[in-house]
Amino acid sequence: MTDQPKRPLRSRQWYGGNSKSAFMHRSWMKNQGMPEDAFDGRPVIGICNTWSEMTPCNAHLRDLAERVKFGVYEAGGFPVEFPVMSASESQTRPTAMLHRNLAAMEVEESIRAYPVDGVVLMVGCDKTTPSLVMGAASCDIPAIVVSGGPMLNGVVGDERVGSGTAVFRWTEELKAGRMTETEFLSAEAGHARSPGSCMTMGTASTMASLVEALGLALYQNAAIPAVDARRRRLAQAAGRRIVSMVAEDLRIRKILTRPAFENAIRVNAAIGGSTNAVLHLIAIARRAGVDLSLDDWDRLGRGVPTIVDLMPSGRFLMEDFYYAGGLPAVMRLLGEHELLDKTAVTVEGAGLWDRIAEAPVWNSEVIRAWDNPLTAEGGIAVLSGNLAPRGAVLKPSAASPSLFRHRGRAVVFSSIEDYNARINDPELDVDETSILVLQNCGPKGYPGMAEVGNMGLPRKLLEAGIRDMIRISDARMSGTAYGTVILHVAPEAAEGGPLALVRSGDLIEVDIPARRLHLDVDEGVLARRREEFQPALPPIASGYQQLYRDHVQQADLGCDFDFTAASRELTTQRASH
Ligand code: FES
Repeated sequence: MTDQPKRPLRSRQWYGGNSKSAFMHRSWMKNQGMPEDAFDGRPVIGICNTWSEMTPCNAHLRDLAERVKFGVYEAGGFPVEFPVMSASESQTRPTAMLHRNLAAMEVEESIRAYPVDGVVLMVGCDKTTPSLVMGAASCDIPAIVVSGGPMLNGVVGDERVGSGTAVFRWTEELKAGRMTETEFLSAEAGHARSPGSCMTMGTASTMASLVEALGLALYQNAAIPAVDARRRRLAQAAGRRIVSMVAEDLRIRKILTRPAFENAIRVNAAIGGSTNAVLHLIAIARRAGVDLSLDDWDRLGRGVPTIVDLMPSGRFLMEDFYYAGGLPAVMRLLGEHELLDKTAVTVEGAGLWDRIAEAPVWNSEVIRAWDNPLTAEGGIAVLSGNLAPRGAVLKPSAASPSLFRHRGRAVVFSSIEDYNARINDPELDVDETSILVLQNCGPKGYPGMAEVGNMGLPRKLLEAGIRDMIRISDARMSGTAYGTVILHVAPEAAEGGPLALVRSGDLIEVDIPARRLHLDVDEGVLARRREEFQPALPPIASGYQQLYRDHVQQADLGCDFDFTAASRELTTQRASH
C-alpha cells in the first residue's frame, strides 16, 4: 500500500464498499485475473495509450506501457491500460489535425468515465501529444506524459537523413533516372529504420520537448531515442512517480500554470520548434484555464536565440541532440540567462531548477554556446494589421532577411486545388517580387487546417534560381518546412476574414520587424468586396466534420472547440474585461 492520499480516491466510487454496483465493477475486472487486493484502496492508474499500427511512430507504445505497469505495481498502484484515438500524421487524411480535438474529447470522456485516480499519457506522433494533454487538462487529475521518443537517425548510403528532408529529392531523382528503383526502396527503409517519431525538430519532437519544458514529463523525456534502453527506464520511473503524484494530489493544473507556459514558449525559440506548437500550446493552456495569447508568443520569444542545431534548419538530428545533453542542457542555458521561471512545478514535485541546474552540454556543435547561436532570433513573430486583425505567425529564423520588409503584388489562389492547377502555368503573371496568397485552407475552409502554407514556388521562378518568396495563408505548415511563410491568418478566409477579400494585383505590405501585415486597398473597395463575399466551403464528408466546422475556433485561440468548458469560461472572462 502507498501513503495515505491527500484526498479521497475517485476510484473508490466504483470499487469501494459492498454495494451491488461495486460488486459488478470488481467482478467484471476479475475476469482478467485481477487479484483481490487490486481493489483494496490502492490508486488506480490509467495508462492512456495511443498505440496503433496505423500510427507507426507509436507502434512500440504497448511494450513501453508494460514498463509503466512495472513501475506502477512497484509503487503500490493498480495499472489499467486503455486505448485512445491515435491521430496518425503519416497515415490519416485529410490531416491528423482534424482529429486532434476528437481525440482530446475521447481522452477527456474516457478519464471522466473510468475509475482512475491518475493517468500516464503515452504519446509520440505529432497530434497525439496535444490531444492527450488537452483531454487530461480538462479533467485536472494527476497526469504524467511518457513520449515514445524519436526514431534513430535516418541513414541512406553514407548520408544521414532526417524524416522527410530528402524525400522530394529522391522522388525527383527517380523520375529523372538518376536513382534506380532498388536504391529508392532502400532509401525508403533507411529513412525510417526504428520505432519512434520523426527525428528532426518537427512537430513531434517540438511537442515532446514542450511537455518536458512544461514540467509534465520526467527528465530527458524529449530526446531519448525510442529504442534506447533508457527510454524503458524512463517509462518505469514514470509508473512509479504517478502513484506518488496521486498521493500528493499533484494534479495537472498545478503544473500547467502561466509560468510553465512562458517557459515553454522560450524553450520553443531556443530549440527552433515548429509553428504548429503555437496552436497546440494555446489549446492546452486554455484547457488548463490559462489565457495564453499570440501576444505572449511574440513577446516572450523575442531575443531568445536558437541554440539547437537540428534539421530542418540545422544539421543534426534528435539522436545527436540526446547525446549532446538533450533538453535539460538547453533549459539550463535559458535559466542562466534569466529566461526561465526556475520555480515552476514539475511532475517531480520540486521546482524546475532542481532538476536542470547541473545539466551538462556534451557536444557544443549540436547544442551551441549562447553567443554562437544557429540564429539570433528564434522566436515566433506575430504579425497583424488589416489583413490579419486577429494575427498571423511567421518563423523569422526560417525566413529570408531580404524579405523582412517588402511590398509586393498579390497572386491569389482561392483554394489548394486552384494553386495546384495554376502554379506551374508558364503564363501565370508572377515574378520574384510577388506575394503568393492562398485562401480557404484555414480551420473551417479546409477542415483541419492543412499543412499547405509553405506553397512551392512557381517552376519558372525556381528554374530562374529564385529560392524564396513571401507566402501568406490561413493554413499551417509542416514542422519540417521553412521559407518566408506567413501562416494561421485569423480570421480565416472561409469565415469572411480580410484574407478572402484579396485579389490578384492588390498590393500587400509586410514589415516583420514592425509586426505589420497590411492590404493596401481602399477601404471603400474592401467594403464592396465584403458585401459580395460568399464563403467557399467544401462539402462535408461526415457528422464529425460538420461538428468540427460548426465549432472550431480560429487559430489565435488554438483551434479548439468553442464548447469545451474551459474555453467557454475564458471567453466569458475576456468579454467582461
Ligand atoms: Fe509521426 Fe512524424 S509522422 S511523428
